[in-house]
Order: sequence, then structure tokens, then C-alpha cells
Amino acid sequence: MEFTANAPVNIAIIKYWGKRDKNLNLPTNTSLSVTLRMDDENSWLKLLTRTTIKSIEESGGGDKDGDKDGEDKVILNGEQYDLNLRMKRCLAYIRELESFPRIQITSNNFFPTAAGLASSASGYAALVAAISGIVPLTDEQMSIAARLGSGSACRSLFNGFVLWNAGVNPDGSDSLAKSIFPENHWPALCCLVLVLSASEKKVPSSAGMELTTRTSGLFSARLEKLPSRITEILQSIEQRDFSQFGKLLMQDSNQFHAVCMDSYPPIFYLSGASLQVIETVHEINTPFIRAAYTFDAGPNAFVFCLENNVSFLKETFISRIPELSAEKVLRCRVGKGASLHYEH
Ligand code: PMV
Repeated sequence: MEFTANAPVNIAIIKYWGKRDKNLNLPTNTSLSVTLRMDDENSWLKLLTRTTIKSIEESGGGDKDGDKDGEDKVILNGEQYDLNLRMKRCLAYIRELESFPRIQITSNNFFPTAAGLASSASGYAALVAAISGIVPLTDEQMSIAARLGSGSACRSLFNGFVLWNAGVNPDGSDSLAKSIFPENHWPALCCLVLVLSASEKKVPSSAGMELTTRTSGLFSARLEKLPSRITEILQSIEQRDFSQFGKLLMQDSNQFHAVCMDSYPPIFYLSGASLQVIETVHEINTPFIRAAYTFDAGPNAFVFCLENNVSFLKETFISRIPELSAEKVLRCRVGKGASLHYEH
């Protein structure tokens, strides 16, 4: 039996930053994201992970080189690894619901891993979606399983605009992601992904969150104001009000990077090129907002705009930012979440 799933990346428009339980990946705040779909079929990069699982017994494994008896196996972008703790937690949760034989997981990312392009999010979403071929899972169970792998992964499972509710239960049973507006809610909305760097991020997000929650004085002020910001941005999405959406999006990204910098020692995820993107966007945005950036835990920019501005913005960024060329600007739309692709 073999199951393959694809899962897209998602970009947070209200960032998840801080854990109330680090083993269960329970967040200190509710977050909101957009699931991305690439507009350009021919691009060298695809912002998705494809994962195939098959049971090891059936594939005749068990005594091959590097194959540890009784353990699942993982092959990531062609290389075999031991399962990490996050994968083990994710699989243990599903096996508690219903046991299944040990599996071989073969996973390919079609973009640079750990470059702030949310590879872990699409990775765990694809893993859980593929396993849902063996063990039927509800949306809630999928969300919990993916979250145990990587918090933001629970959002890559679902379509369109996705809200991940922080929840209050200590076991995380109410910390669930769900689609709040479908992928076709705002057809003119586009996102340009500017690939400014493909190198590994300097501080992994878990370590960064831990440092921020422990040392940043600004962090509690962020948490206090987030509920009203989430209400406002949801309203802007509902009304397809780009200026309001863009303003709140940029403010949240800037605030997230501000609490990173307010951590001690400070964490810098943005590069010089990222700052140039920020400056360029604010220049373009006078007298009204035509573009809005957001950055995760890495230097790459996600610039939202309406479709009539895509070509103009692409040309502007390429002409102003030396790191960019046409193939490093990826055109995206709001897309569907993870899908179980085929089975045989
Ligand atoms: O899911 P993690 O542990 O990779 O954390 C993601 C953190 C951010 O990407 C910075 C924000 C987010 O909400 O995706």
C-alpha cells in the first residue's frame, strides 16, 4: 500500500511566535495564514512538499543497510535520516488513534529547506495527509498531528485563509487550525515570493521563540494587542479591503521582527536586501497602498498585491534589488491545502 500527498507552504499574515507548551507546540497566540499556490507551472521552484509513505513489510525491507529494525524510515530529498523527535511525536499521536505497520517516508521539498520558506510546514502537512490514506483522520486530528511536528504545519493542511486558534486546554485539544475563507474568496489577491537568500536560517524558530518569550520586554505588549489586530485583519479580508489588509500585514511582520530584535541577545532574520524591499514598498505606497510585505523567520519577502500590480512590482523589485532576477520572483495565488494525491 502506498499513499502520496502534496502540501503547499503557507505564509503567516499574523505570526505565530511563542509557545505555551514546547513539547506539544502549543502557541501563545492565535495566528492567521494564507495557503499559497504557485501561479507559474514552469518555475524551477515549486512551493510544496510531496511525501509518499509505504509500509516497510510490504516493500520487503527490514534488514537492509541502515535500516533499524522496528523503526520507521525517512528519506528526505534523496538522503536517509533517523526520525527526529518531532516526527516521532506526530506518528505516535496517530498510532494512538489507530495502530499501523512501520512505514518508509519519502519526502521531497521543491524549494530550499530552512530558508524561511516554511519547508517544515509543508513537510509535516504532507506527512499527515499521506498517513490519512492509511488511518482515516478528521480535520481536527490532522491539525493536531501536523502541529506536533511543526506548529505552523497545521495551517498548510487547509484551504485559503487559515486561522490557527491558540486554544486554552493544556492538552492542546482546542488548538486547531481551520479554513476561515476559501481559496477563491479574493481572486485578485496575489503574492510575490522574493527569494533573496537560500541559506539556512541563523536561529531555528523554536529556539528563537524561547529566547523571545524569556527575554523580550515588548513581547507581552504584542500578545495584548493581537486579538484586536486579528479581528481587524479578518474584517479587511472579508471586505477585500487591500489597503487595510496590507497595512495590518506589514505592521504584524514589523512587530514580529521587532520582538525578535528585542530578544537578548537579539535575533535578526532580515537581511540588507529584505530592508531594501521594505523601503521600496513604502516608496511605492505613496499615496496609497499597492504592495504589502511580510517576512517569516528568514530574509525572503512575501509581497502581497492585487493582480493589476503584479508586473509593475516584479519589474520594480528586479531593477532595485541586486539579489533578484526574474526566476527568483515567484508569482503565487491563494491556494488549496494538502491533498492526498493517489493511492495504489
Ligand atoms: O512552525 P514553526 O516552528 O516553523 O514556526 C513558524 C514561525 C513563523 O514562521 C515565523 C511564523 C508563522 O506563524 O509561521
